[in-house]
Amino acid sequence: VSRLIESYERMPYPSGSHHLSHPQHVAAMAIVYGLDPPPPERCRVLELGCSDGGNLIAAAASLPESQFVGIDFSPRQIELGRAFLGDMQMRNVELRVQSIMDVDASIGTFDYIIAHGVLSWVAEDVREKIFEICRKQLAPDGIAYISYNAYPGWRQREMVRDMALYHTRNESDPAVAAQRAIELVRFAADVSGSQMDAHSIALRVAREQIDEHAGDPTYVLHDFLEETNRPLYFHEFMARAEEHGLQYVAESEPGITEVETLSPAVGAKLREYAKNRVELEQYVDFVTNRLFRRSLLCHAGSKVERTVTPQRLRRLHMTTIAKPVGDNPDLREGVTEAFRNERGAVFSTTHPLAKAGLVSLAAAWPRTMTFDEMLNDVRKRLRVTASIGDADLTDLVGSLHASGVVELLAAPVICTNTVSNKPMASELVRHQASRGALVTNQRRRVVKMDDPTALFILTKLDGTRDHAALVRLLDGEAQAGRLSLSMDGNAVSPERRPLVIQAVLEHALRKMAEYALLVS
Ligand SMILES: C[S@@+](CC[C@H](N)C(=O)[O-])C[C@H]1O[C@@H](n2cnc3c(N)ncnc32)[C@H](O)[C@@H]1O
Repeated sequence: VSRLIESYERMPYPSGSHHLSHPQHVAAMAIVYGLDPPPPERCRVLELGCSDGGNLIAAAASLPESQFVGIDFSPRQIELGRAFLGDMQMRNVELRVQSIMDVDASIGTFDYIIAHGVLSWVAEDVREKIFEICRKQLAPDGIAYISYNAYPGWRQREMVRDMALYHTRNESDPAVAAQRAIELVRFAADVSGSQMDAHSIALRVAREQIDEHAGDPTYVLHDFLEETNRPLYFHEFMARAEEHGLQYVAESEPGITEVETLSPAVGAKLREYAKNRVELEQYVDFVTNRLFRRSLLCHAGSKVERTVTPQRLRRLHMTTIAKPVGDNPDLREGVTEAFRNERGAVFSTTHPLAKAGLVSLAAAWPRTMTFDEMLNDVRKRLRVTASIGDADLTDLVGSLHASGVVELLAAPVICTNTVSNKPMASELVRHQASRGALVTNQRRRVVKMDDPTALFILTKLDGTRDHAALVRLLDGEAQAGRLSLSMDGNAVSPERRPLVIQAVLEHALRKMAEYALLVS
């Protein structure tokens, strides 16, 4: 254990918001599957292995009436989180230096329990304890979110991990070990050239993953070089959960394992193999080479109901990141229109209601819509009243949700898609922007703001300054030499500076609205 603590002490694992573990998201998943979870606005949340509390703090900032407890056995990480909490003067989060093994009844019960990136990185006894905590400390209607590395996807990665562990076996400095591992993976992937055997492909996939994380040593250290990394099959995970009186609700990421996302023929075959939902999910993992899961669990007695109903959707708020590819989509029957989803993949449909629904949600972006707002809007867009009813929209939203295109939330996203006279970002964002480039938007996604001018502007958006005041602030920064302005690569003359600053400001504010960073 001490070596594990040591590894996090030397190289903290900075945690950011995971929107899929946010109570408003988790509650919506539970509601859509027939459960009645505790209201997120007034709930108690426990996070196990919370690192520096980045995820918990972001959630707590958006739910000021709820109480959050995070535990982690790494003092340095907890210290980092506490320093941030102190700066923000937040009172609804408690971060404790504590081992998961030491949790007992004195901690109380919680409506939502989160264990993200912990279960497969801990020894057997800790793993057992995580399930035990979910059984004993979860409120009767509570929901637990547990993420873990999954098989079969991790089988191939384990081969790369073994190589990396061997290559760094005598290296005690984690940063150097990470660098050596990156080198080896890149080298071996290069050696594989373009060969199509499974080994070569696994190496090139690992290289891609490392490149996607821009060679981030923290990622490599924790994903490839962690001493304990024990993925599990979904059926093994569920056997453990069931032993502890817990049952499966759904994956927290909609659409990620749904059999509906496979072709109807594949889906039909897998349904033939599977006797129940858990088995079906396992077969989906087999054919999709599943690598990671974020599973939601509740107590065994609750009734999970997988048929989406209008009553349940009326309790929720919907949104989509999918955008029409064309400027003015033609909603008429038979005309194909393309949309691009969150992962950049393009899909198309000829179905008028599907097209109208997606256009309607995209127009509201980044805000959410209620079921009735969406119903009225699609009726207007399709110029009909009676012919589109609750059942039609329920079918549409249900299938778009099952395929991961629509996200459901238990509360509206509070943000504006237009830039107001006195723009305002959340207090959390203003604090985050004063510390670095990663900020949490109103949709709980981490947004990377590489531009120092935009970051500076964000820190000043407390809702008291109009555009002219912001221009004056930026001008002061430019005069003091803290802000460099250029146009087409040339320095800006003092006379032109206010105009250029105005343009820079308006552009940055429009981007912030688009990224859901403005509250009002
Ligand atoms: C891979 S990190 C994930 C951190 C964070 N949940 C996230 O996803 O960003 C695993 C975390 O679990 C903590 N941890 C591991 N074993 C633990 C234990 N037995 N008790 C408390 N914390 C533990 C580590 O210190 C580390 O912060």
